[in-house]
Amino acid sequence: MTFTVAIDGPAAAGKGTISKAVAAHFGFAHLDTGLLYRAVGAKMLGGADPVSAARTLDPADLDADGLRTPEVAQAASQVATNQAVRDALVAFQRSFATRPGGAVLDGRDIGTVICPTAHVKLFVTASPGCRAKRRFDELSDKGMDVTYETVLADVKARDERDRTRAAAPLVPAEDAVLIDTSDLSIDAAVAAAVAVIEDAR
Ligand code: C5P
Repeated sequence: MTFTVAIDGPAAAGKGTISKAVAAHFGFAHLDTGLLYRAVGAKMLGGADPVSAARTLDPADLDADGLRTPEVAQAASQVATNQAVRDALVAFQRSFATRPGGAVLDGRDIGTVICPTAHVKLFVTASPGCRAKRRFDELSDKGMDVTYETVLADVKARDERDRTRAAAPLVPAEDAVLIDTSDLSIDAAVAAAVAVIEDAR
């Protein structure tokens, strides 16, 4: 059985939390596709050519330390504007999406480009202030030296770049179900996602 759930949305909207919870609930595999771009971005910061890095990316690269920093996030969104980088990452994502037993992929273009025929498409969003506050709490909890203002600026800069780029811009698929998590608890957001998937099964 294959069953693909595509979860897209802007930075820090709650996609990761919802995706992990939904995957655990249904027993599906989960791929955080942002990690692919973060791994390529980190290699670029280390001096590599982003297109070669994307073409030779190894799944083990997704476990590298330091992929969650704001610097790597910015580098990820820069390499993500490059169509050749995106093209190099398509096959891996599509094969993950069709693995037996079901798969959840979260990112920016899963419902629009990678899996346009996904069984369920969710677009998870929240206000920029809310998203920056969550990301700030998450990074501070990890002991990173950040301020709310710089995190908000980072989130807004990435949103702008992700939404306005020519290659696979961040837009909801026409048939995506919108979940705004601004005023939802984690449990309520997960329950909303689970309900949509239950309906489609
Ligand atoms: O989701 P995350 O914040 O880890 O993604 C980092 C960056 O990778 C995003 O800002 C975006 O530019 C890029 N990305 C993308 N397409 C995806 C996933 C992430 O362009 N499917």
